[in-house]
Amino acid sequence: MGHRPGRVLITQEEIAERVRELGQALSRDYAGKDPLLVGVLKGAVVFLADLMRAADIPLAADFIALSSYGSTTRSSGVVKITADLSISIEDRHVVIVEDIIDSGRTISYLKRNLQTRRPASLRVMALLDKVERREVDVELDYVGFTIPNEFVVGYGLDYHGLYRNLPCIAALEENPSA
Ligand code: IMP
Ligand code: MG
Repeated sequence: MGHRPGRVLITQEEIAERVRELGQALSRDYAGKDPLLVGVLKGAVVFLADLMRAADIPLAADFIALSSYGSTTRSSGVVKITADLSISIEDRHVVIVEDIIDSGRTISYLKRNLQTRRPASLRVMALLDKVERREVDVELDYVGFTIPNEFVVGYGLDYHGLYRNLPCIAALEENPSA
């Protein structure tokens, strides 16, 4: 395919430590609230699986799948829900769990959509924030790591569906021999 994971930007150990902190933050901020974590498929699956086990409060998890039209490395801003939540979020304390915020278009759309369903509260947690690429102003309540403007894979993030299983976050690089 001509591309492969190269330089490691964030190690498995660094991710584990940060996810532990984010789980503690959730436990503190949502004590007594039985929050509902909404994972955005498929990229957030790995993060959500570790995050929920790093929190020691009762919580629920559900998933939503979105597709943004356009190329795989750039979001067009036209977002569609391809698989919706299986439960109502009305009066629930909802935390959207995303793998990465790039232009901000996907999360901005999702926030607006979920807000119309009358949750008790709605916050966003993103593992990665590519802040330099932001085109739409959106408030992120919890961020794991801010990263430079590079396409990354691993820990749930993919390139053409591959490399989600890497335990670290690596930059996607051109393979000179391919
Ligand atoms: P946004 O709408 O531009 O913020 O795009 C966010 C979505 O694009 C994420 O949920 C990812 O699915 C995808 N994406 C953006 N940057 C990367 C990347 O570096 N690696 C893998 N997927 C990415
Ligand atoms: Mg995504």
